[in-house]
Amino acid sequence: MAIPVVNPKAQNLALKDELARAVQDVLASGSFVLGPNGALLESEIAEICGSNYGIAVNSGTDALIIALAAAGIGPGDEVITTPFTFVATTEAIIIVGAKPVYADINPSDFNLDPAHVESKITSRTKAILPVHLYGQCADTKAFSQISEKHNLKVVYDGAQAIGAESHGKGIGAFGDATTLSFYPTKNLGGCGDGGMVLANCENICNRVRSLRFHGQGNITGDSTYTYEHVGFCSRLDEFQAAVLRVKLNYIRKWNETRQAIAKRYIESLAGLPLQLPVPKPENYHIYHQFSIRFKKRDELAAKLAKRGVGSKVFYPNPLHLEYAYLPLGYKRGDFPEAEKAAAEVLCLPMFPELSDEDIDTVIATVRESAQELV
Ligand SMILES: Cc1ncc(COP(=O)(O)O)c(C=O)c1O
Repeated sequence: MAIPVVNPKAQNLALKDELARAVQDVLASGSFVLGPNGALLESEIAEICGSNYGIAVNSGTDALIIALAAAGIGPGDEVITTPFTFVATTEAIIIVGAKPVYADINPSDFNLDPAHVESKITSRTKAILPVHLYGQCADTKAFSQISEKHNLKVVYDGAQAIGAESHGKGIGAFGDATTLSFYPTKNLGGCGDGGMVLANCENICNRVRSLRFHGQGNITGDSTYTYEHVGFCSRLDEFQAAVLRVKLNYIRKWNETRQAIAKRYIESLAGLPLQLPVPKPENYHIYHQFSIRFKKRDELAAKLAKRGVGSKVFYPNPLHLEYAYLPLGYKRGDFPEAEKAAAEVLCLPMFPELSDEDIDTVIATVRESAQELV
C-alpha cells in the first residue's frame, strides 16, 4: 500500500539512533524489570495525562484487568460499557468475573451515550467502563455525575487517547482509574506490548502496584514474598520503558501534528456525503484514528486500496454480536447505533509522519472515490 493507515516503522526509523542508545543503555545496566526507566516513565506519563500516579504493566489489556480488580470489581458485579470498541474492553470485565452490560453509543462521536448508560443501571451495577474511542474523550462530566448519583466506580479505557484532554484536564484526571496501551500502533507505541494504569487515589495505586507483581504486599512490613492478593505477573520491561521514554519527548508534537492533519482532512473533505469527525470544544482530540462514516464503506475502501490509499475498519463487528460474547444474550438490533457505526466507519491514514503530499493524495483520492459512489 503506497500510503498505509498507520506506519510505526517510519517513526522508529526517524528515531533510530536515540532508540538504539536507549536500548543499549538498558542492556549495559543489567536492570530489566521494574528498573529506573519504568519508574521515570510512570511519573512522566502521569504528569502528561494529569493523574497523581501511573503504574506500568504488560499491556493495555492487563491494565484494564488490573484496574478493574483494583477498583474492587468481581463476581456478581455488572459493568456497563460500549459494544463498539476493541475486544479487550469487554474481555477484561469477564476475566475479573464480572458481567459486561452494554449501552449504545452516540452516533456523532462513537462514544458511550451517558443517557443510555443510566437506563441500564441495576442494583448489581458496580462500575461504568467508557472508552475514549479514536482519541476523542467520552463525556467525562456526565459520567462523573452518574457515578456520584448512583455510587458507581468509573474506569476509563484510554488506550487510544494518550495526551487527550477533557474540559482542560488530561484523561488521567477522571474516574477511579484510566488505562493506557503502548501497543506499537498506538499514538505512544512501544516496540512490543505495554500498558499503564493511571490513578489518583493512593489506595487504588497501591493495589495496582501489588496486583501487577503477584499480589505482593507489605502486611508484615517487609513486602518481599508476602502476598495480600492473588495477583498477576504484569510488569513493563525496561527495554519498552526506555523506548517509550524516548518517544514521550515527542508526544505533544505528534499529537499536534495529528490535529493539523485532521484539520486539513476535515476542511478538504467537507461537502462530501460522508460523516466527518466533529471536534468538540470541551475536548482536545488527539485523532488516534481519523474515522469517517460512509454508507458504501466497503466499496469506498476497495476503491481507495486500488488507488494506493490504505484504510481500515475499527471495528467491523459490535461486540454483542461476536461469537465469543453471544452467551451474554444480546441480539442484532439491541444497539442500533453501534451496529450502524460498525457497518459504516472507515479509518483513513493517520500518523504524524504523513507527508504533505501524502495528505493531498489521501484527500484527492477520497474525494474522487466517494463522488463515484454517490
Ligand atoms: C480501546 C482499546 N482497549 C484496549 C486495548 C488493549 O491494549 P493492548 O493491545 O495493549 O493489550 C486496545 C488496543 O489494542 C484498545 O484500542
